[in-house]
Amino acid sequence: MNQQDGTIASSASLYDRHPINADQILLTLKEQGRNLDQLRPVDLRPHDQDHYGGEAAVFDLAAAAGLQDGDRVIDICAGVGGPSRLLAEKFTHARFLAFDLHGGRCHGAQRLNAVVGMDRQIDAIQGDAQAMPFADNSLDIALSQEAFLHIPDKQAVLNEAARILKPGGRLGFTDLIAGPALDETDRAALEAGIEMRTLQTVPDYKAKFRAAGLSLVSHDDLSPQWVTILTERLEWYRAMNRGTRQTLGDGVHERYMDDYETFVGLVQAGRLGGGRFVLRKG
Ligand SMILES: C[S@@+](CC[C@H](N)C(=O)[O-])C[C@H]1O[C@@H](n2cnc3c(N)ncnc32)[C@H](O)[C@@H]1O
Repeated sequence: MNQQDGTIASSASLYDRHPINADQILLTLKEQGRNLDQLRPVDLRPHDQDHYGGEAAVFDLAAAAGLQDGDRVIDICAGVGGPSRLLAEKFTHARFLAFDLHGGRCHGAQRLNAVVGMDRQIDAIQGDAQAMPFADNSLDIALSQEAFLHIPDKQAVLNEAARILKPGGRLGFTDLIAGPALDETDRAALEAGIEMRTLQTVPDYKAKFRAAGLSLVSHDDLSPQWVTILTERLEWYRAMNRGTRQTLGDGVHERYMDDYETFVGLVQAGRLGGGRFVLRKG
């Protein structure tokens, strides 16, 4: 794993107590009787996708962005690298950068890549998406799922994506979208509990795309699907309680769950929604 020096925020964050982590995944597989020396990417998949809509959402986003085999691709805020492994298995000549701020998640991505023999096709790199350590005009496709919601300066990450993409390159991302009824109290609870900040409305985002020099190719409203998905995900996290106590410690999972319930309640109430955007540089 490479590390960008100087701009890494504290590792004491939401993702230190997140139920999706490499230890948890490997523990679950071990408990299921799997031989950890003989794992394949498909074995990780029920556990390593930290976004809404599972594998289909990754393929839908990649298709919407026009990803082709042989492309140089970055997953911005890649988590433990599940989407990169999924796409790398299908697009065997593409090269992937799995880029994330959190050291534990980058190490987890690297470990899981190595466990399934994909560490030559995917590089896990640590750094801040608001200032990425990649050359101008160097990548074909940038993807991101359910992560810009954490980033304080949305204009900075959009500017950075535009900078590192080749002319004509595409950014495809999905994110939470603020509805008109989302108020300051809701925003404060989301920021304090689950580190969701500066959530954008669709018009806010469109203005920022223009300022970054990105033209809108498509926008899909994912809000109805996300109500169903997040309601199911809340139940899945509740069911993970025993294993997460073992890997994270007592009390940590309970605190995460309280904050997650608040978040899912806002989605169920229609104050928060979801969107998929595809943008072209130039
Ligand atoms: C919900 S997870 C999504 C992970 C991944 N996209 C997936 O679908 O499996 C959000 C990720 O954003 C990362 N993140 C938050 N702020 C970031 C930043 N400023 N730069 C890079 N990554 C960041 C977190 O560390 C976390 O891994």
